[in-house]
Amino acid sequence: MPEPIILGLESSCDDTAAAVLRGREILSSVVMGQTELHAAFGGVVPEIAARAHAEKLDLAVEQALAEADLPLSEIDAIAVTAGPGLIGGVLSGVMLAKGLATGLGKPLVGVNHLAGHALTPRLTDGLAYPYLMLLVSGGHCQFLIVRGPEDFTRLGGTIDDAPGEAFDKTARLLGLPQPGGPSVETAARDADETRFKFPRPLLDREGCDLSFSGLKTALLRMRDKLVEAQGGLHEADRDDLCAGFQAAVRDVLAEKTRRALALYLADAPAVPAFAIAGGVAANRAIRGALESLCAERGVAFTAPPLRLCTDNAAMIAYAGGELLAEGETSDMALSARPRWPL
Ligand code: KG4
Ligand code: ZN
Repeated sequence: MPEPIILGLESSCDDTAAAVLRGREILSSVVMGQTELHAAFGGVVPEIAARAHAEKLDLAVEQALAEADLPLSEIDAIAVTAGPGLIGGVLSGVMLAKGLATGLGKPLVGVNHLAGHALTPRLTDGLAYPYLMLLVSGGHCQFLIVRGPEDFTRLGGTIDDAPGEAFDKTARLLGLPQPGGPSVETAARDADETRFKFPRPLLDREGCDLSFSGLKTALLRMRDKLVEAQGGLHEADRDDLCAGFQAAVRDVLAEKTRRALALYLADAPAVPAFAIAGGVAANRAIRGALESLCAERGVAFTAPPLRLCTDNAAMIAYAGGELLAEGETSDMALSARPRWPL
């Protein structure tokens, strides 16, 4: 039997996205961002996001079908993010998906957005279950053992900020441009990571939970002390602060990954694999540290391409396909869930 062609919809935050997949083959993946709509407000405004999704979702679908060079009638199933996320946006997607599924007489499947992220290494690299996953972005930070499309064990996660958020705040405090991750990484490149003593939060506590908000407080204190002592911040100070901060995030992520790997390997997986996904995975210092950890333990290391790590609908279509293959479909009672833990 040929692989089903699945149309995926994603509208849970500030990206309006549609994609068409045939199995693991991405026929099209359209992502329409809303950054400029929210820029003046310093964060995503739910009401503005919902309105933009409602306006753009059908355009995203039209474009995704055009790029896949397929008529709507060729679609075998509709997958849609049904949560977690901003309720207005999720509702827009779910309503459109219900309409399309009813009109076409094709199955509908509601997908958990986090499951979409967590299954991405299967879409991009065909990883076998179970694998260990670290999701690190501006909004997420958690360790998951992924055993199936609905079977996840959460080993731990951040108890406050996500690491990307911490990078962004650091850049803001030091007058560097957004997004903060790449600017902080560039500033840190040839700087001294040992000059400023940043804490290594939660390393004294057992388990895989993480914390990053203390790093920001430490940075603020160091910055203010320098400004007071010398009337301003020299470029070398700024760069050393970036390097110290980045080293702290790297060390904390590395130690917690070491613990998560030990828990994962205790299950004796047949083909041990680790995947890192999310914007922060682009950081060379962090990625390098985790890559060597995996190499030491004989665990394959994977990092899906960034465009599939950030919010997109290809991951939703893919996850929907796995659910369908297991006979999971949703009916017209499918509801939008602002909160939906894995
Ligand atoms: O996955 P992502 O694009 O989206 C959301 O979380 O929505 O992640 C974006 C985050 C931003 O906070 C950005 O500063 C961070 O990923 N980031 C980085 C780097 N590139 C992007 N953080 C550290 N180092 C980088 N090179
Ligand atoms: Zn996301």
